[in-house]
Amino acid sequence: MGAGPGPREVPLSKVIGAMSYALDLTEGEPPGHAVRTCMIGMRLAQELGIGEADRRDLFYALLLKDAGCSANSARMAALFAVDDRRAKRSSKRVDWSRSFTAFLWTLRTVAPGSSLRSRAVQLMSIREETEITRSLMRARCDRGAEIARLLGLGPGTAAAIRALDEHWDGHGQPEGLRAEEIPLGARILCLAQTVEIFHAARGLDAALRVASRRSGGWFDPQLVSALRRTRRDAAFWRSLPAGDLSLWEPPERRLTADDAYLDRIADAFAGVVDAKSPWTYRHSDRTCMIAMSIAALLGRNERELGEMRRAALLHDVGKLAISNQILDKPARLTEDEYALVRRHPLHTASILERTPGFSGLAQVAGAHHERLDGSGYPYGLDSGALTVPMRVLAVADVYEALTSPRPYRPAMNSEQALGVMRSDVPRRLDRDAFSALEAVLEERLDEAPAASTAVDDALRAEAVLSRRLRG
Ligand SMILES: [Fe+2]
Ligand SMILES: [Fe+2]
Repeated sequence: MGAGPGPREVPLSKVIGAMSYALDLTEGEPPGHAVRTCMIGMRLAQELGIGEADRRDLFYALLLKDAGCSANSARMAALFAVDDRRAKRSSKRVDWSRSFTAFLWTLRTVAPGSSLRSRAVQLMSIREETEITRSLMRARCDRGAEIARLLGLGPGTAAAIRALDEHWDGHGQPEGLRAEEIPLGARILCLAQTVEIFHAARGLDAALRVASRRSGGWFDPQLVSALRRTRRDAAFWRSLPAGDLSLWEPPERRLTADDAYLDRIADAFAGVVDAKSPWTYRHSDRTCMIAMSIAALLGRNERELGEMRRAALLHDVGKLAISNQILDKPARLTEDEYALVRRHPLHTASILERTPGFSGLAQVAGAHHERLDGSGYPYGLDSGALTVPMRVLAVADVYEALTSPRPYRPAMNSEQALGVMRSDVPRRLDRDAFSALEAVLEERLDEAPAASTAVDDALRAEAVLSRRLRG
């Protein structure tokens, strides 16, 4: 493991900075939100004279603050009967500490376009689920902190992410921590993300007004004072749209990512993707194991296997841009919804393209829904353009999807899935990759002949095991 395709070492800040665009998609924020939040938070840290070691922890906490965000997308969509990305976006703009405002927000947000009666029913279910919501917030925070730990970042990073949604007055989530009980890093995250949102939408004065209004409520008053002092630094505020992080990473503590570390980052973001929907909670992981097995059987070398591993783990990163209302819909998608789904490989490719160490994966990962006869998406590429790794990934992706349950059908067993796929070979799916898949499954069936689900269990166990070994 670990023989990846990228350069031997790349600056970690550049990798995480680029991958944070995937988190922006999940939160429904404009591209670059996490990067600009990082710049604002680091400018605050400078104003406060925070020490270098703490600043590095803070730097990565600011970039990864939403790493757990996909963990509550599905529930948010179900609870509010709304596009989770829209709900997440607007929830950051409303002052939850004022109950009347929160009530109005909920009334406006739930079940848009439906009757007053069904909105009332939805509202009632939300009231009943306050505790569930709180536990979901906790899941989001814990998941984000866990990802920071998986990436080997300092304890200060995980602690800041975990307490991101706590408020100075004790009315935040999930623990209701108050004032200095909240780690300083988390207080900075909370202020910086709000300031970024209002600064991007309405300019600096509006952002400062919101910060002042919520000072002592959401925000630490001392941090708000420090923020006001940065008002004079016009050059800084002008530099925000360019999103250049290089000035803000503490120089003596710069981290680099080698091949093994890039593998860990791919693992971590596969986890973010899989947490998005209960219907795909192991999809990236299992697709990776299946694709690797096929590629190994086809005689790919170690470097190519390393590339396949990362491409498979990250192939659906663009799905973070799709609402769970669509991903988890228990019925046929409308034309418009399907058009959105068909765009996810484009998001995957554009995120990977801009990420140092992963840019070489963009074409393979972005082509997993292309088919040999040109009937796939997003480009309708055909056999002349589809490389062996692209063909392998397509076969692995289809097999994994068919053998997992979907909101509109139960999981197929191995034989059923192979039967469905066989009718697409060789017109749409590659013959060699498919034969290799059959061989892989037969091999495993020999090992565990009890039932075809044993294959899945074996694959799952292997995936878990290999992930643990790597971690
Ligand atoms: Fe996909
Ligand atoms: Fe997929």
